[in-house]
Amino acid sequence: MERNSTKLVTKLISSYKSPSNIALVKYWGKKNKGIQLPANASISFTLSDLCATTIVEAMPCEEVLKEPSFMFQLNDLPKASFEPKIKAFLKRIWDNYSFLKSHRLLIRSSNNFPHGAGIASSAAGFSALALCMVDLQEQFSGTPLIDSKREASRISRLGSGSACRSMFSEPGVWGKTKDIEEACDEYAVPMTGMHESFKSWKDIVLIVDASEKSVSSTEGHQQLNNNIYAESRYLSAKKSLDLVLDALKKHNLPAFIHTVESEALQLHAMMMVSPMHYILMEPNTLAIIQKIWAFREETHLPLCFTLDAGANVHLLYDGREEDKIINFVENEVLPLCSQKQYFCSDLGGEPIKLNDIEK
Ligand code: DP6
Repeated sequence: MERNSTKLVTKLISSYKSPSNIALVKYWGKKNKGIQLPANASISFTLSDLCATTIVEAMPCEEVLKEPSFMFQLNDLPKASFEPKIKAFLKRIWDNYSFLKSHRLLIRSSNNFPHGAGIASSAAGFSALALCMVDLQEQFSGTPLIDSKREASRISRLGSGSACRSMFSEPGVWGKTKDIEEACDEYAVPMTGMHESFKSWKDIVLIVDASEKSVSSTEGHQQLNNNIYAESRYLSAKKSLDLVLDALKKHNLPAFIHTVESEALQLHAMMMVSPMHYILMEPNTLAIIQKIWAFREETHLPLCFTLDAGANVHLLYDGREEDKIINFVENEVLPLCSQKQYFCSDLGGEPIKLNDIEK
């Protein structure tokens, strides 16, 4: 669709609030062909209470831009360390997002959890940014897309792979798998048929180390290229996905708990056996895992842990047992956390488009 003179002088604006997500089966390793395609299929829950809010203002300019022009602010301050990833993202969508050639962007993002708490924000951030980009292109062209969310999932992957799963209230599945016909490597799809009982599950993020990770996820993925265990890991991830999907449908708690914990440990095992051989867990990560195992052994309550690519522990549990679990966390686990910090979130929840008044 052509630009007209009215559009040229109009500032465009869009804003979305998107949840973060925690993977049950981990995306760890990228295909050698294509851009940001996963080596194995993964599945995650969104974390509805840990969100990024992003506002993009697109200011029209007279000249035709040769490359994306943007300024980025996190919590109202410039954040130079995020710029390379955002620039790479904008370059990847450049050809299909024509408004970028005639607009300079001001991207303002904020998280509802403290920056520097060791909680990864790139999934929530790129989910929200991608949704804004789709909306702005639709405003510019005057043509709504048939499936805007699918397109946002597709392009958010080009910013940060795990972001493409932060789109649905159902668990997000990303990557080709025989288990779900419509699943593919380009974008995530919602899982259907999850057992009702999982709707009451929640996550407590136990902050073991609030500092920036010494090895980024992007570097971690690259390490799989020369990891002699990579192919076995991808096979194992395939089995994990079968098991987790089946457990989610049938409410098979032993299978769910076993597979989710195994996935977390396999992720960290791959770091340890990679060419760089590094460890992101801290002594208190292991101490918390031991506490969770002992507590489960003693109480038989429905809970398990998972990890992302860092030292913090995610405690997943059935919210119907909340009182006992919070009691356990406060008495036994918090002394092992950095400054006794933790964050609770419901699971599920999808991005929300914000009206002008909410921005
Ligand atoms: C351990 O999505 O952060 O959280 O695609 O390079 O941006 P890039 O990596 P990223 O990797 C996330 C890895 C993980 C597992 C997961 O979320 O599936």
